[in-house]
Amino acid sequence: MSYDLASTTWGPEEAAAIDRLVREGRFTMGENVRRLEAAFAAKFGMKHAVMVNSGSSANLVGVAALFHRRERPLQRGDEVIVPAISWATTYHPLQQYGLRLRFVDVDLQTLNMDVSKLEEALTPRTRMVVAVSILGNPAALDVTRAFCDRHGLYLFEDNCESMGASLHGKPCGTFGHLNTFSTFFSHHISTMEGGLILTDDTELDHLCRAIRNHGWARDVPPDTTLYQRYVDGFFEAYRFILPGYNVRPLEICGAVGIEQLKKLDGMIEMRRANAEVFVSLFKGDERFIIQRENGRSSWFSFTVILNPALRIDRARVMEHLRAADIGFRMITGGCFLRHDAIKYFDYDTVGEIVHANVAHDHGFFVGNHPQDLTREIQNFRDVIDRAAVPAAVASH
Ligand SMILES: Cc1ncc(COP(=O)(O)O)c(C=O)c1O
Repeated sequence: MSYDLASTTWGPEEAAAIDRLVREGRFTMGENVRRLEAAFAAKFGMKHAVMVNSGSSANLVGVAALFHRRERPLQRGDEVIVPAISWATTYHPLQQYGLRLRFVDVDLQTLNMDVSKLEEALTPRTRMVVAVSILGNPAALDVTRAFCDRHGLYLFEDNCESMGASLHGKPCGTFGHLNTFSTFFSHHISTMEGGLILTDDTELDHLCRAIRNHGWARDVPPDTTLYQRYVDGFFEAYRFILPGYNVRPLEICGAVGIEQLKKLDGMIEMRRANAEVFVSLFKGDERFIIQRENGRSSWFSFTVILNPALRIDRARVMEHLRAADIGFRMITGGCFLRHDAIKYFDYDTVGEIVHANVAHDHGFFVGNHPQDLTREIQNFRDVIDRAAVPAAVASH
């Protein structure tokens, strides 16, 4: 493909790390996962990091942990405020744990939740807000955290698309009580499959460690307040304290993650350099609504929404992109309310959901990679310039 959605960022360092583990015969969660967790927490200035086998598992384990807190646990039927655009597994654990969702529309420019609707979204049953920074672009996390603090709500930051982004100098993925990351193939660092949870709350850290690992006490630090240890080491070795899962990462993912994390800052700089090219080529053209940066984006990708007022035929644009061998796709998961899975949810919407539907019907994104894409972006611009003809002009 001439311009693909994603490319590998693994090099000799990652290959050497895998090689070493294979030679040593160490595969299941151990020292390398622990080292990545420590490095990851230090990198983002948080107390605890817990690695799991995907960003989706990070969301699942995080939500489960909030149900087992000693003080103020979440309970079935509690309400959660969520943005209308995110990935399916931002929402699925909320449904699986019996929470009620209140969908808020997104801002058409940033593609993040329209925080002017937060007060309207609040009800006596609201217990949590899930904030998602879409495709590298920081959500209004400061406003959202202040809102949560004012109303005694949990802030759950699904930062799976925005590692390396920041708002007013504070990294995305550090604003929430719990914060999740994905290290899937196309993301800012990759362990192929993988995810992490960041928190400053020691009880939540211990809960996440048990829940990711069968609900087992084994991986919970000995000074925990979660349970009383038995003297009998035989029983203690196989002690299950919570209803958990097995969503542990592989040791290879830990070792590769350590190498990838060292490269994160450099890779973000390259993504941002590409973004400068993209923005300079697209800004000011009324046919295209491109994502407006809020804070410092880590530019997962480049979104284009064809201005609905000009009635540009997206199918025609897509045909041209295909012919030019340029990869493109829906913006994250589009408007989640449009998916079949919504029938399983207990939910309502806060007013009308307009912009998420505009993004769903008129938008798409092309890839960004940590390498120089100047030529690819220029070619993309030339192709879309020819293809995106407003309806009034097209009919002549
Ligand atoms: C916002 C968001 N949350 C969660 C996930 C799930 O991450 P994973 O693919 O690692 O399961 C994704 C995936 O890209 C995502 O975009």
